[in-house]
Amino acid sequence: MVRLFVNVDHVATLRQQRAVAYPDPVVAAALCELAGADGITVHLREDRRHIQDRDVRVLRETVRGVFNLEMAALPEMVDIAIATKPHFCTLVPERRAERTTEGGLDVLGRRADLAMVVKRLSGAGIGVSLFIDPDPAVVRASAELGVGTIELHTGDYCDAAPGDDERRQLSRLAVGARAVVESGLRLAAGHGLDYRNVAPVAALPHMEELNIGHGLIARAVMLGMERAVAELKGIIAAAAAGGAG
Ligand code: PXP
Repeated sequence: MVRLFVNVDHVATLRQQRAVAYPDPVVAAALCELAGADGITVHLREDRRHIQDRDVRVLRETVRGVFNLEMAALPEMVDIAIATKPHFCTLVPERRAERTTEGGLDVLGRRADLAMVVKRLSGAGIGVSLFIDPDPAVVRASAELGVGTIELHTGDYCDAAPGDDERRQLSRLAVGARAVVESGLRLAAGHGLDYRNVAPVAALPHMEELNIGHGLIARAVMLGMERAVAELKGIIAAAAAGGAG
């Protein structure tokens, strides 16, 4: 079964637009779980543009399934993670000026510093996932750091023009996914996925988790959270059943 983790950051984006108390990502997370989401993901950014520290603390108490905290590999964030103890942390690159997470972690360039962060989180009993581009060399370097999960960045696939470009990006993902499985790591993917483009990614052999935020929240604004989650779960389940894994 491919599990759906809903990223509720953009519920908080709407709240922060007016600096009020609603809509509440904690309520959104509960609705997602009631509708069948297997876990909840949030990204606590250094600039706190959407999710706030309190959201992380409350979600840790209220999420019934898996709680995945995305964060930059910075000492401040590691301290928060160790104090909060999410089920796992996904380490992501972060640039202040970016609109969203652009590109995967520079694992080859930051080995020593990432090794330290992975050691601190693992030592606190928190599972670690790295968000990387689908490049086998980066997958192998990540495996050497002792993480349990790799989340492949699907942004290039999602941005690709339909046809050859999209097929090329999908085969890049398939190659990266094979390297993850051959390294003995759990395979996850995310970024830019939505109702239209998720099926081929869900059908990749051994895919275990998809982290989906913007596309799902955008749909929920129009149709309601329950319907948005249930529809996406249905598409993922059908694709995974038709795929090889
Ligand atoms: N996975 C990771 C590691 C991310 O950083 C993000 C965006 O915060 C997502 C998945 C979700 O991306 P989207 O909002 O485009 O679905």
